[in-house]
Amino acid sequence: MTSVEQRQSAGPRGSRSLLSIDELGTDGVFRILDLADHMVEVNRRPNPKVPALRGKTVCNVFFEDSTRTRLSFETAAKRLSADTMTFSVAQSSLNKGESLRDTIETIAAMGVDAFVIRHGSSGAPWMVDKWTQASVINAGDGWHAHPTQALLDAYTVRTTLNRTGGLEGLRIAIVGDVKHSRVARSTSAVFRLLGADVTLVAPRTLLPPVVDEPTSENLDALIDDVDVLYLLRMQSERMNEALVPSLREYTTRFGLTPQRAGRLKQNALVMHPGPMNRGVEIAVDPAELPGAVITQQVSNGIAVRMAVLFELLGSGHGSADTLEGSSE
Ligand code: CP
Repeated sequence: MTSVEQRQSAGPRGSRSLLSIDELGTDGVFRILDLADHMVEVNRRPNPKVPALRGKTVCNVFFEDSTRTRLSFETAAKRLSADTMTFSVAQSSLNKGESLRDTIETIAAMGVDAFVIRHGSSGAPWMVDKWTQASVINAGDGWHAHPTQALLDAYTVRTTLNRTGGLEGLRIAIVGDVKHSRVARSTSAVFRLLGADVTLVAPRTLLPPVVDEPTSENLDALIDDVDVLYLLRMQSERMNEALVPSLREYTTRFGLTPQRAGRLKQNALVMHPGPMNRGVEIAVDPAELPGAVITQQVSNGIAVRMAVLFELLGSGHGSADTLEGSSE
């Protein structure tokens, strides 16, 4: 059987792709986080490479810019011995009028096992999932979802705070441009699935009209008590109107200033998905914040994305037993 046939017979279609945290569910989240522990162990080996996905091909298709997500998926696939392809939008036949569907079907015909897709339109990965038998991983769609960012965030909190189960009892403030943030949607969803209390902190203009979480416009009323301060980037590229009077005023009311950093609890974590607008949402040097785990978020992104690829494509269907041995 080809790898595609094997996967079709391996389980329901829903388990083939990772499109959102909701579809993954609590058990699925725990499964990925537990698998990521094994991947961290693989990454610590002198030769951090295992043959688990030898013979598989993973194709990165990014219609929006990315540094962290694209490179960490590429690294994750290589550490599992998968072959990788990177689709360059700027040099593709999309510029000759080829549709997204024809593009995906063309790449799929080359024998791709998984597409990692980032697209500016919310819902695009669900469309791609309908057009291909390959696995589809949502690497960020419009304002909507960024599930692997959410998983690496949860993994970072869990491991930094030495939790083995969920995040029960933690008070987490997600601060900033919630309205335009796919990270806020997915990361809040996974934090809440794991039992944390999440508050969204933003000016009213940067909140969606309807949210599931409590909201606040007063960061100073919360900052002394939070266990995790999760800062969001001001996404000026998604704003077509002025939603804050000025960036300076935004920083005064919602930025992590030295004064606010001094009020954080001793063990409070400071997180940011990147890229950061230094001087706007973060007006201190993260290197000088004892609780900053922004670099760890990036490092953990590789292990978590290895876990996702392994769960979706691994012949052991996620069994960590097949992580033994070196690929060379
Ligand atoms: N956090 C995140 O998605 O970063 P990139 O845009 O660099 O991938």
